[in-house]
Amino acid sequence: MMREPPSRIYFVKFIPRKYAQNPMKSDIVLRNVSEADLPVFYEQQLDPAATQMAAFPSRDRDSFMAHWKNKVMNNDTNIVSTILFENQVAGNIVSWEQDGEREVGYWLGREYWGKGIASQALTEFLGIVKTRPLVAHVAKHNIASQRVLQKCGFTISGTARYLDLEGGDVEEIVLTLRE
Ligand SMILES: CC(C)(COP(=O)(O)OP(=O)(O)OC[C@H]1O[C@@H](n2cnc3c(N)ncnc32)[C@H](O)[C@@H]1OP(=O)(O)O)[C@@H](O)C(=O)NCCC(=O)NCCS
Repeated sequence: MMREPPSRIYFVKFIPRKYAQNPMKSDIVLRNVSEADLPVFYEQQLDPAATQMAAFPSRDRDSFMAHWKNKVMNNDTNIVSTILFENQVAGNIVSWEQDGEREVGYWLGREYWGKGIASQALTEFLGIVKTRPLVAHVAKHNIASQRVLQKCGFTISGTARYLDLEGGDVEEIVLTLRE
């Protein structure tokens, strides 16, 4: 009698955690941001778990769209990519100039967390953004983001504080990629 191959669900269930968190490189694609991605990014930045993690309050729809269309996408010095995971818009990764430094930041929808996507996306983005030093400011409590950066070669270069959009005082770690 022919044996049925194991179902996908049966197989996935037994993938060890370590491998489940290391997606295939080909599952993650960076491409140019299109305006059609913005509603997805907007929803992703509304998530209270994400805003707490990033210590960055969400914007309302009008402010968010204006910020992305007029500032993020309408500035030739910015480098902005949509992160696709299995052809879905998982988030974005952005590099911009601020106070004479080149910065990097990223944001994923919560359903994409914990799969190694940010680490892989940043690894690929570092092949596009070649400026060094490259700097990231991360809330002190955002261990996941610090880990992403450290896995990609960033090291702690200092601390900083800023007042967020709601006037809250946020303590940050500054991480820098030098080579
Ligand atoms: C931070 C963020 C980008 C991480 O994305 P991710 O794809 O889940 O990260 P990865 O899966 O690549 O994980 C990177 C490392 O962080 C660890 N990690 C993930 N979530 C964690 C958590 N909540 N606490 C501690 N460590 C965590 C992972 O275990 C992994 O380390 P390892 O490889 O040594 O096991 C994602 O959670 C996010 O978009 N958060 C909201 C926005 C934000 O904080 N952006 C960054 C602003 S600086």
